[in-house]
Amino acid sequence: MAKLVINETKKKGTIAPEIYGHFSEHLGRCIYEGMYVGENSEIPNVNGMRTDVVEALREIQVPVLRWPGGCFADEYHWKDGIGDKAKRKKMINTHWGGVVEDNSFGTHEFMELCRQIGCKTYVNGNLGSGTVQEMSEWVEYMTFNGVSPMADLRKQNGHEEPWTVDFFGVGNENWGCGGNMTPEHYANEYRRYQTYVRNYDDKKAPINKVCCGASVDDYHWTEGVMRTCFDHTPEPMHGFMDFLSLHYYVHPEGWEIKGSSTDFDEEVWYKTLKKALYMDTLITRHGAIMDQYDPEKKIGMSVDEWGTWFTCEPGTNPGFLYQQNTVRDALVAGITMNVFNKHCDRVKMACLAQIVNVLQSVILTEGEKMIKTPTYHVFHMFRHHQGAELLSSELTGVSEIGIGEWKVPELTESVSEKDGMITITLNNLSATDSREVDVQFTEDKAYEVAEANIVTGADMHDHNTFDAPEVVKEAAFTGYSVNKNTMKVTMPPYSVVEIRVK
Ligand code: AHR
Repeated sequence: MAKLVINETKKKGTIAPEIYGHFSEHLGRCIYEGMYVGENSEIPNVNGMRTDVVEALREIQVPVLRWPGGCFADEYHWKDGIGDKAKRKKMINTHWGGVVEDNSFGTHEFMELCRQIGCKTYVNGNLGSGTVQEMSEWVEYMTFNGVSPMADLRKQNGHEEPWTVDFFGVGNENWGCGGNMTPEHYANEYRRYQTYVRNYDDKKAPINKVCCGASVDDYHWTEGVMRTCFDHTPEPMHGFMDFLSLHYYVHPEGWEIKGSSTDFDEEVWYKTLKKALYMDTLITRHGAIMDQYDPEKKIGMSVDEWGTWFTCEPGTNPGFLYQQNTVRDALVAGITMNVFNKHCDRVKMACLAQIVNVLQSVILTEGEKMIKTPTYHVFHMFRHHQGAELLSSELTGVSEIGIGEWKVPELTESVSEKDGMITITLNNLSATDSREVDVQFTEDKAYEVAEANIVTGADMHDHNTFDAPEVVKEAAFTGYSVNKNTMKVTMPPYSVVEIRVK
């Protein structure tokens, strides 16, 4: 029998709210149609932003939004996206589907979207094909409060006050689509570009600079970037490198084939979950390299692209990366976010790819219709971990389940505490069986369940469609009994559960 021992007296660090962040790119229908429809659209909107989508995103308390890419970021020239919309440059989005990008969504619109969602801003600059001057001027345009060419231009374009840029990415995937650089070459470019990402306002928190980290298990990249960045630089310090990124996608059948989002067998189920669990190894190993240069963990790891990446839906533009989202995605989300929580000493930000209509989205839209995916509902439950203290917790007696080489633990968990409320999130990874777990608290007190919820389906392939939008949703969970400081929990197969006790 599995047992979960929780030590409420042993706090292991704060779970940065930004671990529950999101990523948006000028890709397919993520920005255009998904979030931005323009002021003249018949779809209800405020300043061009879809009201239904903004409301749904507020409910999951999106803490931070990354934009404009992705690969798009290193081809994006921000001046194309400001000023009179009718005069903005039209161009081809060469990376994603070869469609016309009319630049009607630019800096002002992104800042407005974040204002409406109530989230922090993460702007990704162009190091691959842009200049130092262009990057520097963008930061000046967004954040300078005095008299300067860029601040004046912003004011002319209708925004008197500067905005807050909370995070700034100095390039994206510069080992690949962002310039095909070597780690040493990128690191030297990083040192140069970041110098001109200035903080103009002493009264505000400085901009957090995000250095481009590795893809998957490219430890050579992490080592080369860290070594070169900290050569002749005395020590990790705020304002030089605040974050190092990591990108990892789960492709059940590998990069070439990927696999269907909705049609999979039990073996592929376990294969997908095993690959999701690999995030733990990646964080541990990249983190160990970071530790050599930054033993005090001043630099956060930003897993700013993660999620499932399947073959796009039949009949859709392959360049749009539109995919469905099933109970399997809910499990990938639950597993990954428990991993992030457990690594909260190093992982300080993460962005799911991508927020709407692309890859493992929390929301899908079709014209004026909108649905919440199973992943959305998991984010809704896990929002209680944002800013909470991670508690020491350990699962014992957990069996390995799976098929062939694709073996996974039957359960995963994480536990946190905030304002006297303990949040336990558990995943049952089994494709067939319910699982029991005995929970043991350390403190000698009579605990009560304040709230318990579950995301699951009648079948592991279940998903929401525009005709049946609530096949998978968050529901009240009743499979527990409490006896003083112990609890017995019975979870159905393929389920993600949140229990809150006080
Ligand atoms: O999210 C889709 C793409 O995946 C991003 O543009 C890129 O950064 C990554 O390779």
